[in-house]
Amino acid sequence: MLPAFRRAVLHQTIMEPSNRPIGVFDSGVGGLTVAQAIRQILPGERIVYFGDTAHLPYGDKSEEAIRGYSRKITEFLLGYDAKLVLVACNSASASAYEELLTEYGDRVIILDVINPVVEYCSSRSFSRLGVIGTKRTISSGTYEKKLHEAAPSTAIASLATPLLVPMIEEGFIFDDISNAIVRTYLSDPRLNNIDALILGCTHYPIIRNQISKFFNFNVEVVDSARIVAVRLREVLEKQNLVNRGEAGEDLFFVSDYTDYFEKIARMFFESSINLRKADIWS
Ligand code: DGL
Repeated sequence: MLPAFRRAVLHQTIMEPSNRPIGVFDSGVGGLTVAQAIRQILPGERIVYFGDTAHLPYGDKSEEAIRGYSRKITEFLLGYDAKLVLVACNSASASAYEELLTEYGDRVIILDVINPVVEYCSSRSFSRLGVIGTKRTISSGTYEKKLHEAAPSTAIASLATPLLVPMIEEGFIFDDISNAIVRTYLSDPRLNNIDALILGCTHYPIIRNQISKFFNFNVEVVDSARIVAVRLREVLEKQNLVNRGEAGEDLFFVSDYTDYFEKIARMFFESSINLRKADIWS
């Protein structure tokens, strides 16, 4: 048994709110683009990541199913004593964020990936803004609604681009197949004359350069990863929750494991990571 003062110090170290990890989740490995931005902007933070690879893609699922998955994952991350849960998936942000706030908002800070981007875009006074995302995100109308409120003078054109997630996951980047898919989607007349394009899916930053090139670098490609990580830092600073000590080891969980997920996870996180399987559904 440790002496009382040592127990008190140990207790303080473990329970210090700022030492607690940031929980991040996505339908799969796309949210790692956001985790990577957090790693760069907040190098002292420990991340516990959950990719729901057993249910990927969320973009084709019903709102009800995504809400159920999101609740269960949030509880899993709370089991790791997360000080903040980031919904690093646009489909889940569009379908489940409000419900997570209602259900868990009194126990943990919950952030999504849509509101910070809307805030950023409303500060830029774009005249015509495009949004691309999964079928779930686009059909929810969440970006349109929030942008209309925050930036009423900006015209919004939104487009579902469902082939981009499987294309990226299969590693088709800057090649003939992906050039054809990207060109076909982005040539849609609805995107004519846009001055910025929101990448409304956390997978898309992987092809950000390819998209910029399609527009001859004349359109601002709004990548939520960095914007969300900066917002997250502001929230932690405001609540005095930035970890000033050692970061500790990040943990990466998936609900279904294959070697392939591990390989593409490295592409998304831009460094070697070990995925562990956490079967939270059985
Ligand atoms: N990364 C997810 C998002 O931001 C899309 C992937 C999926 O459809 O599961 O919406």
